[in-house]
Amino acid sequence: MRRERLSVVASERVGPYTLLRVTRGGLDPGIPGQFFMLEAPGRLLPRPMSVCLAPPGELAFLIDPIGPGTRALCGLEGGDRLAILGPLGNGFQLDVERPLLVGGGIGIAPLPYLSEALGRPPAVLGFRSDWHAEAAGLVPDAEVCVEPRLVTELVDPDAAILACGPEPMLEAVRALAPTAQLAWEAPMACGYGACYGCAVELDGALKRLCVEGPVLCS
Ligand SMILES: Cc1cc2nc3c(=O)[nH]c(=O)nc-3n(C[C@H](O)[C@H](O)[C@H](O)COP(=O)(O)OP(=O)(O)OC[C@H]3O[C@@H](n4cnc5c(N)ncnc54)[C@H](O)[C@@H]3O)c2cc1C
Ligand code: FES
Repeated sequence: MRRERLSVVASERVGPYTLLRVTRGGLDPGIPGQFFMLEAPGRLLPRPMSVCLAPPGELAFLIDPIGPGTRALCGLEGGDRLAILGPLGNGFQLDVERPLLVGGGIGIAPLPYLSEALGRPPAVLGFRSDWHAEAAGLVPDAEVCVEPRLVTELVDPDAAILACGPEPMLEAVRALAPTAQLAWEAPMACGYGACYGCAVELDGALKRLCVEGPVLCS
């Protein structure tokens, strides 16, 4: 893990989301499912973001502008600079047979990089509207559904599932496929185990998601 100040290459709209492309500098892109802490302009605390794509010389993050920090990150323009720390946490285990990627909403963010790492396996993605579903174009070989249809209707529970999405989606995937690898979320202040701000109770045990997750396997 290291911290660097990097330059924005471009900020591209993808439906309601922004694909923020930055120079990679000396940062290791890490394993799909790992994350970076991005320092948003004018905000005290950095914000955790999954690597969405890691083409040569770049890192790209898909960002949903839901609050002040993410809106500030989405407002960055080419040439702006920001500090980035990472890679952090535990990513997906990639030694799986017959993988199926499952994503919901902004939870698809780590799936393009994961898809590349696994040789473009099948994916099923769920969104709340056609506008949000424009982000599905980032994930190769994806079957897409839009609410009221739920992505869990497309899940083959016998596949090796790697999933990221809102908590109710992850709980539903886990009920269908108890051995699925699931990327969980919690608000994070430090990103490396120091503040306990991300501690969550899972299966009766307290886990710091930034250290033991965000990807947890049963
Ligand atoms: C490991 C990890 C990877 C992530 N990857 C991405 C990504 O690739 N793209 C992306 O858009 N977002 C991602 N997020 C979520 C993102 O970090 C938060 O949306 C962001 O920090 C919110 O900051 P804000 O200042 O915009 O909004 P805030 O004002 O901080 O939050 C807005 C609302 O969202 C809630 N909230 C904030 N953070 C979280 C969270 N992590 N989990 C659940 N609720 C939260 C707050 O309670 C509040 O209600 C990730 C989170 C984690 C933990
Ligand atoms: S974010 Fe600080 S301990 Fe996890």
